[in-house]
Amino acid sequence: MLTDAHNRIINYIRLAVTDRCNLRCTYCMPEQMQFLQRKELLTNEEILTLLKPLAAAGINKLRITGGEPFLRKDLMPLLAALKEFIPDISITTNGVLTQSFIPQLKALGIQKINLSLDTLHRDRFLEITRRDQFPAVMQTLHSLLEHDMQVKLNVVIMAGVNTDELPAFAALTKHTPISVRFIEEMPFNGQGHSFSGNQWNYLRILDTLQEFFPLEKLPDAPQATSITYQIPGHQGQVGVIPAYSRTFCGTCNRLRITPTGGLKTCLYGGDVLNVRDLLRNGANNAFIMNEIRHALGNRAIDGFAAERQNQHWDSMSVIGG
Ligand code: GTP
Ligand code: 5AD
Ligand code: SF4
Repeated sequence: MLTDAHNRIINYIRLAVTDRCNLRCTYCMPEQMQFLQRKELLTNEEILTLLKPLAAAGINKLRITGGEPFLRKDLMPLLAALKEFIPDISITTNGVLTQSFIPQLKALGIQKINLSLDTLHRDRFLEITRRDQFPAVMQTLHSLLEHDMQVKLNVVIMAGVNTDELPAFAALTKHTPISVRFIEEMPFNGQGHSFSGNQWNYLRILDTLQEFFPLEKLPDAPQATSITYQIPGHQGQVGVIPAYSRTFCGTCNRLRITPTGGLKTCLYGGDVLNVRDLLRNGANNAFIMNEIRHALGNRAIDGFAAERQNQHWDSMSVIGG
């Protein structure tokens, strides 16, 4: 079992498989991004070498993030190999390229897809993402639902940009079994635009929703980031993710691995170890696991409080969300 300095059990890894993206969401990155070179990224072989002992030590949940995961050319063989020893794999994607992979994902037993979509208007999508890819993302959404995938929509709420769409997004849950989650904006934008996180916190989002719909609270797992509600009579659910105004530290069960093999024990903190460098210097599994356990032994009880004032403004695409 993997535990940290404060006896929190770590069973969940968020693995960012690339920093590259085919969108340029303003809350995530500037228009001009300097992406990493391919040789800097963990290879499939390195990822598998790293994750096998972690799975043996109790990691049973893996989320694939990025950047945009489907830009990684060898993603499907990686997923097939990971699925052999980690049963619960989910993916967070922007949906631009995802549609054609859905049958393969289904065949692998990967059903849980979180789709980032911040507006239901094509022109606004272009403003937010700086790319005119709204039709492709909507096709992916429809195709995911046709294939009975478990879909969560991630909607980052930004003052003056999309707050008027709260009722329209919530209305999507009426006839579709999706979970729509409204996310407080966090300051990880690589200085892409000004940060509005404090203006629309989850309470304001909930108050606004309640002007349109009654909300019944549903139970959430202790480690969950979202607070979930049901609109009576609707097939899907709505939720809020207080990503900025609240801390999830008390029940945090997650480790993050960045595209270059950086290990993060906190979303707000820097890399505490580079596992790629250890692997490329010939370290064996036992040594790497020891280093990871050591890093967890130094984990702050409340990384949010300890690290937030550092305000290092990395792009979310290199952290993996
Ligand atoms: P589920 O397990 O499906 O609920 O996924 P998730 O919500 O953990 O992951 P997802 O990739 O869909 O991320 C949704 C939002 O939650 C993103 O904005 C993430 O950056 C944010 N998020 C994920 N983990 C953490 C965390 O540990 N702390 C904070 N503050 N935000 C997080
Ligand atoms: N604040 C909140 N959420 C963000 N995401 C990306 N950047 C930010 C940010 N600055 C979201 C994406 C994706 C998830 C992994 O993180 O929309 O759904
Ligand atoms: Fe790409 Fe996701 Fe960042 Fe948007 S939020 S630019 S889709 S990595």
